Amino acid sequence: MVVPNGEGDRTAAVVGLQFGDEGKGKITDYLSGSYDVVVRFNGGTNAGHTVVTDEGTFKFHLLPSGSLRTSYVVLGSGMVIDPVSLIPEIEIVKKINPALKIMISRNAHVVTKMHRQIDVEEEKIRSSLMIGTTAQGIGPTYEDKYARTGIRMADISDLNVLREKIETMYRMHSNLLSGTEFSDPSKREDMAKEINGAAQKLNGYLDYTELAIEGLYSQGKRILFEGAQGVFLDPDFGFYPFVTSSNTISASIYTGTGFSLRKVNRIIGVAKAYVSKVGEGPFPTEVTGDLAKQLRDLGGEYGTTTGRPRRVGWLDLPMLKYAVRIDDVDEIAITKVDTLGMLDKVKVCRQYVLDGKPIDYIPRDMDTIKRVQPVYDEFDGWGQISDSISGRKISIEQLPPRLVRYIKYVEEQVGKPIGIISMGKERNRTVRIIK
Ligand code: GDP
Ligand code: IMO
Ligand code: MG
Repeated sequence: MVVPNGEGDRTAAVVGLQFGDEGKGKITDYLSGSYDVVVRFNGGTNAGHTVVTDEGTFKFHLLPSGSLRTSYVVLGSGMVIDPVSLIPEIEIVKKINPALKIMISRNAHVVTKMHRQIDVEEEKIRSSLMIGTTAQGIGPTYEDKYARTGIRMADISDLNVLREKIETMYRMHSNLLSGTEFSDPSKREDMAKEINGAAQKLNGYLDYTELAIEGLYSQGKRILFEGAQGVFLDPDFGFYPFVTSSNTISASIYTGTGFSLRKVNRIIGVAKAYVSKVGEGPFPTEVTGDLAKQLRDLGGEYGTTTGRPRRVGWLDLPMLKYAVRIDDVDEIAITKVDTLGMLDKVKVCRQYVLDGKPIDYIPRDMDTIKRVQPVYDEFDGWGQISDSISGRKISIEQLPPRLVRYIKYVEEQVGKPIGIISMGKERNRTVRIIK
């Protein structure tokens, strides 16, 4: 029977509603205590998902953030996986959760060092249209997937198959790679051997994961899906071209795992109480100068994957409403209210104005979105949140009244409940709001 909250649902999903880094890792870890299986379905090591527990700080790039305490994790076919960097991640997790069963899709595509190099070379060519990618080889690996020259996880345990695929890949990209170390055949051979070495360690984890997930579901296991990135990094629905190369929206659960979205009982959208962004592209509510520095330092807004300072800005309700609709969100988890509340005055963008007229859509051509003027509502900061509010279900009235005002305002504007509130980076600083 499905109990009406995120912890009680048989299946649920956690997805990002902004530009990534909303705190999906923290929310996934929080929920994963109630789920048997946690599944990633998109992206690769461009994702950096942070979980803070008594045992330390964990930064997940490929393994799902539920890995510390669930029973099964799945890396779905929609992901792009760097096998070499996956091994140390598995070693760390196995120390904390030795019984964890890991399943990796045989169909997931393989990121190589050559893809990382192509990523860097492509950025040079883009010049003023540079995206500011994470340089993790994500775009080029998805390019190869759709060009049908990609390498899949099932290919890499056979050195000869791997060599042939790498040579084809090299020929496809030789114009970009000619001035790099990969023009030397011996470097390509070294790379093939390194990947093949990793394959020997990962072989036991490979599976037909679409069948494995279905099997676990039939056994009555509870399944949680964890998205990477966020709606505005989605190549179809985000601020293209300043996006990533795999779909990030909830619909990609289906294509990235084979598990029907119709069987996902609850979609939990994660939003930061303000907005952050790494990389180039439009950001209507961006703040700069001293205020940006204050917010960035209060929130430790430096990239988990790249260490880059994140751009920061006010919560953007037009974007949030759009994301909630595209992801078909049932409830919102809001994070970092502790950080935002430390400011004297907090702003929220209620409306966009374009050429003097209010608009109720988000322009997605880059010239128009840059001209949008946000209209703000202002709130008083709510200050420090007491440590006594943590790790349990509470009624909203237990929170500082100024924070309650902010939460209720956002709920009303967006038309969806905020069911989970995160007020600190530690695992126990998350509360579920009982209505
Ligand atoms: P993800 O990519 O969506 O999983 O988010 P990241 O892990 O990249 O970035 C979120 C950052 O905020 C991490 O450093 C988290 O530890 C931290 N964080 C998450 N939730 C909270 C919160 O409620 N308060 C504070 N202060 N930090 C948080
Ligand atoms: P998580 O899962 C924030 C951004 C990059 C760049 C653009 C394209 O931690 O939320 P890519 O390397 O994917 O080709 O880069 O997307 N980006 C992210 N920003 N969080 C992420 O993941 C991101 N993954 C990609 O900064 O602007
Ligand atoms: Mg992140």
